[in-house]
Amino acid sequence: MDYNELEEIKKSASKEIQEISDANSLELLRIKYLGRKGKLTEILRSLKDLPDDQKREIGSQANKLKKELDNLLMQKLQDFKNYKPKSSFDVSIPGKKIPLGHLHPLTKTEQKIQSIFTSMGFSIVSGPEIENDYYNFDALNIPPNHPARDAWNTFWIKRDTNIQMYTNDANRKNDQRLLLRTHTSPVQIRYMEAHHPPFQIIVPGRVFRYEATDASHEINFHQVEGLMVGKDVSLANFKFIVEEFFKKLFGSSVKNRIQFRFRPSYFPFVEPGVEVDILLKNKWLEVIGAGMVHPRVFEAAHYNPREWQGFAFGLGLERIAMIEYNIPDIRLFYSSDLRFIRQF
Ligand code: FA5
Repeated sequence: MDYNELEEIKKSASKEIQEISDANSLELLRIKYLGRKGKLTEILRSLKDLPDDQKREIGSQANKLKKELDNLLMQKLQDFKNYKPKSSFDVSIPGKKIPLGHLHPLTKTEQKIQSIFTSMGFSIVSGPEIENDYYNFDALNIPPNHPARDAWNTFWIKRDTNIQMYTNDANRKNDQRLLLRTHTSPVQIRYMEAHHPPFQIIVPGRVFRYEATDASHEINFHQVEGLMVGKDVSLANFKFIVEEFFKKLFGSSVKNRIQFRFRPSYFPFVEPGVEVDILLKNKWLEVIGAGMVHPRVFEAAHYNPREWQGFAFGLGLERIAMIEYNIPDIRLFYSSDLRFIRQF
């Protein structure tokens, strides 16, 4: 037993303490040196066998070392307790604000239009976007080769056996060409085939046209079809409904805010036909096509045209939203430009 031995213990213990990386290993280390059978404990215990002078000298050195190791161990333990891993969860940090999305202006306008018409007793109906020749044209009094077909430039679809047609007439289903509907008017026929009048419906939906785009024309846009059928429905009812609709949409002082006009027009599926224009930035913008349902259309739906009459209309959703939000170019709606979208 001598100083060297103590010096050795001091060196190895301090080195080992430094290298330790968890509290359990630290405890094992404490036992190794200071436990009941620990290296330093053994030395302290064997002091009694030493001659008196050595006992005092080495004893005091050994006790000093014990204190030092105790302190080192305590210090290391404290370090473990204070240690916070970098990824620890700090509940006091304020939360990050996640930006909320919002409805697209077209969706807002569509919802507004729907609630105005439902408040006037109309029901909301839908129909397929993939149509066939019969519903999109023939049944609406537009036979093949009729020049009016040019008004609706059409995306035709190659017949594919995987496409399931939405029709209740199996014979028609097989020999009809398919297309992307050019307007929502085919739903007039589909609805009348399945329902008895009187009724009043609107049909919001997406339509497609194979035509050049410009500030007021898109190839993919939305219409809201309207159809009211009864025993004595007249064009005057249509005029009233449209004016009410504008009042509810643009506010009761509508005449001061917007200017609109009714103008005679032609659609093969109505007689007489009208169009409604609204003034936007000093230019008349056509927003609604309408008229009294043509007797041939009633016949196609197996209604007796001498018994029933009604008005129908098709309004352009984008055009209404353009007026509502003062948007000069229809193409902005589909531009995906967030600077545009965030304004609404
Ligand atoms: C029709 O599509 C008729 N089906 C409307 C109708 C229904 C008439 C019932 C009579 C009875 P038109 O092609 O004019 O009509 O389109 C109707 C409305 O859709 C227009 O007034 C306009 O507001 C809008 N519209 C037409 N073409 C486009 C286009 N390319 N881009 C955006 N909106 C359009």
